[in-house]
Amino acid sequence: MSFDREKLGKSFKKVGVSYHLGRRDYPKKLIGDVIKISGVNKDSLILDVGCGTGKSTIPFAKTGSKIVGIDISDSMLRIAKNLSVKHKNIVYKRVSFEEFISLPNSFDLILMGTAIHWLDPKMVYEKSSKLLRKGGSLALFWEPISSLCKKIRLLGMEEMFIKNCPNYPIIPASVNYPNKRSQEVVKSKLFSSTIIKKYKFIQKYSQEEFISLINTYSWVISLSKKDRDKLILEVKEYFVKKDYIIKFPTEIYLIIAKRK
Ligand SMILES: C[S@@+](CC[C@H](N)C(=O)[O-])C[C@H]1O[C@@H](n2cnc3c(N)ncnc32)[C@H](O)[C@@H]1O
Repeated sequence: MSFDREKLGKSFKKVGVSYHLGRRDYPKKLIGDVIKISGVNKDSLILDVGCGTGKSTIPFAKTGSKIVGIDISDSMLRIAKNLSVKHKNIVYKRVSFEEFISLPNSFDLILMGTAIHWLDPKMVYEKSSKLLRKGGSLALFWEPISSLCKKIRLLGMEEMFIKNCPNYPIIPASVNYPNKRSQEVVKSKLFSSTIIKKYKFIQKYSQEEFISLINTYSWVISLSKKDRDKLILEVKEYFVKKDYIIKFPTEIYLIIAKRK
């Protein structure tokens, strides 16, 4: 089945709690690198596009910058707002990036944490470049689908997902999404000084946490309740057979570039 960006992007409307439990925080080193490279401080203005539950927003509150987090999902935003009560420098708005209106040349940093693939590639670089001031930074960070599929393959669970999930992405090992993405940034001719960084670490998941995690993937969210329950049952059986805490290698990429 082909990748339906718009439909699957909207599926996050329902998953706030499991998203927050299942997805891990971004590495501290990545957050530090974005702050350092972009040079944001208490006088800066940051936009977090597809901010979700705030995992990509809240770590930047310590800069003292004013931060605007936007998302289309009420359930994700509800969690972000609850977690941000003490951060008076963050405001959240329910609006899509496509419909978001702000003054041009106003932002010092635009963040897209695990969000770029939900946005229309035709508008994303142009709109970001219009919203950023000259020299402002665009930071894209995410775990590429190839890393995700690799760990599912390593766990011996790929067949289970392919069988149960029509939207499961079967990605050949040769596809390098971070390179493809950085080429897109360069090709737009709107940005310069593009840097790619990779952060590698080991993640540990209990059965419960792993089920929360898979419940955040669009190819699982988009299943009917009956099909999802069947899949979860098979995952639980897998854990009974293996009887251990899952550990897997994870790769997060950062692409950061300056507006020309
Ligand atoms: C995978 S989550 C990432 C959340 C958060 N940035 C993080 O790093 O944990 C993707 C988010 O993008 C949001 N989203 C999808 N399409 C969007 C759009 N067109 N405009 C704004 N947000 C969108 C979804 O609702 C979801 O919360």
